[in-house]
Amino acid sequence: MRSLRSLVALVLVGSFACRDATAPDHSSGTAQAPIPSVSAEAAAPKGRAMPSGAAEAPRVALGIHGAVSSQEENATDVGLAILKKGGSAVDAAIAVGFALAVTHPSAGNIGGGGFMVIRTSDGKAFALDYREMAPAAASRDMYLDKKGNPTRGSLDGPKAAGIPGTVRGFAAAHEEFGKLPWKDLVAPAVALAKDGFALDEETAGDLARVTKKMRDLGYADTAKLFEKADGSALAKGDKLVQPELAKVLQTIADQGADAFYTGALAEKMATEVEKAGGIWKASDLSSYKAKWRDPIVFQYRGHEIVTMPPPSAGGVVLKQLLAMSQALQLDKQPWRGAEEVHLFSEAMRRAYADRNLLLGDPDFVKMPLEKLLDPAYATERTKNIDPAHATPSKDVSAGLPAKPESPQTTHYSVVDEAGNAVANTYTLNTGYGAKVAIAGTGVLLNNEMDDFATAPGKPNVFGLVQGEANKIEPNKRMLSSMTPTIVSKDGELRAVLGSPGGPTITTTVAQLTRALVDYQVPLDKAVPAFRAHHQWMPDEIITEQSIPNEVVAELEKKGHKVSRRERIGHANCIEVDPKTRGFRAVADTSRANGKAAAY
Ligand code: GLY
Repeated sequence: MRSLRSLVALVLVGSFACRDATAPDHSSGTAQAPIPSVSAEAAAPKGRAMPSGAAEAPRVALGIHGAVSSQEENATDVGLAILKKGGSAVDAAIAVGFALAVTHPSAGNIGGGGFMVIRTSDGKAFALDYREMAPAAASRDMYLDKKGNPTRGSLDGPKAAGIPGTVRGFAAAHEEFGKLPWKDLVAPAVALAKDGFALDEETAGDLARVTKKMRDLGYADTAKLFEKADGSALAKGDKLVQPELAKVLQTIADQGADAFYTGALAEKMATEVEKAGGIWKASDLSSYKAKWRDPIVFQYRGHEIVTMPPPSAGGVVLKQLLAMSQALQLDKQPWRGAEEVHLFSEAMRRAYADRNLLLGDPDFVKMPLEKLLDPAYATERTKNIDPAHATPSKDVSAGLPAKPESPQTTHYSVVDEAGNAVANTYTLNTGYGAKVAIAGTGVLLNNEMDDFATAPGKPNVFGLVQGEANKIEPNKRMLSSMTPTIVSKDGELRAVLGSPGGPTITTTVAQLTRALVDYQVPLDKAVPAFRAHHQWMPDEIITEQSIPNEVVAELEKKGHKVSRRERIGHANCIEVDPKTRGFRAVADTSRANGKAAAY
């Protein structure tokens, strides 16, 4: 460890101090040993054997030295190669993140931001906030028209972009937990951008659709980055080559994160964004900091859960959902039966009402976190849940359905041989973010400003109706739902969890945690199972096509409106087999691309 701080209690309830990115709090009291190195040829680690069950590439991979699960196969391969080279889980996570910026451009990014939760093999927990920040010129009503109605300005075009945090975040993680040189972690992404990689069917189809949208919005130069030279669409098997992005990544590899935030590249990015109608200033980039926050750490039925505090709402809501599940004795209900889904939906409804109205950036708003995180409060909240009937959400106006824009965040998980674990969720917000790249850089801009309550009281792209706590203010971070989470039991790593999916992220993570803890369902079974989501408003259970009709009929009988979506989330996770201590990496390939790898 390169910088150690004085001690603060590890289990944190209600206080979310932040520290700058050069000084995480290694909170358990003893200086941490360096992460031990691993070689591909190493013998089976003591106390760990292959888990039972079959590997089923690319969905399930079994291993004893290390594991990676991400949404894209080249990125997963990059992560595994870094582990085999002796890199730490954090090294591999950084390399996967840079690779996804090239191979999964709808959500992988260097122009966006996210959150990383780290649990080291000795049980210490860390939470890194590299969420985007509103530019200094941002203002509360900047996305309202003259009549006070929200425009699409927070979603499309350069004005939608917050100041990106990914590169600073990865550098901060590397500073503390990296073993391999920084340039080695960026190099695979440079190669993928420069030499290109063959498109799979899903990404090719995705690019064909989004390039049309980019052109419709007037961003033809951005569309050209993802098309053939003659302007036709790339097809499955065609190579996507991104020379401008390769150059930027090479600069980051050679000169470090500072090159992205200060100096010529940063000046150029700010100038181009402003020229295109955005409000970035070079000073926004130079003042951006990733922040180590105190993670939310709590117990759930004999398991320790480590998760992300604000400015993500994920950890607060996850804790509330699990505390309400415990109070409702949900583990006594058959898994994925109508009773369980009904009661869990009632818990979700209540937790989201709190989330949407009370949470925001801890550096700007005072939140009643002590109360929200108190299990007694969660128990109290369950008192008016009726086992036979849905409780209508208050103040629901007609016409609040979640909009069809795709929530394209991405999550990946990494574990190394020593048992260090990384859960990383990052994003451009909706697919391909603002649908425009910074001229001459190939860097896609995020449209994360829409995660603010751009018009408090009115729904955002995810149908979330949020309040003043999350209003736009200069240099503020927008509230998120990202929920990178790590589960352990008796001091041993048990699972690394997370998902994309806007507000469905947290409820997906809660359902996976409950599958593992309440029902002992292994992740290769839990991940493909149908998911259900309720976010208070709109007042409906959103679920997936695979939900059995009889479960829907029971829910409707209780008064729920149930709507089916093609898919909820994309949970690329890893579990440690409780018997053998071996790794089972699971990619969520029944919903979209992905690859799990382990060795
Ligand atoms: N951009 C989605 C989220 O952060 O929740």
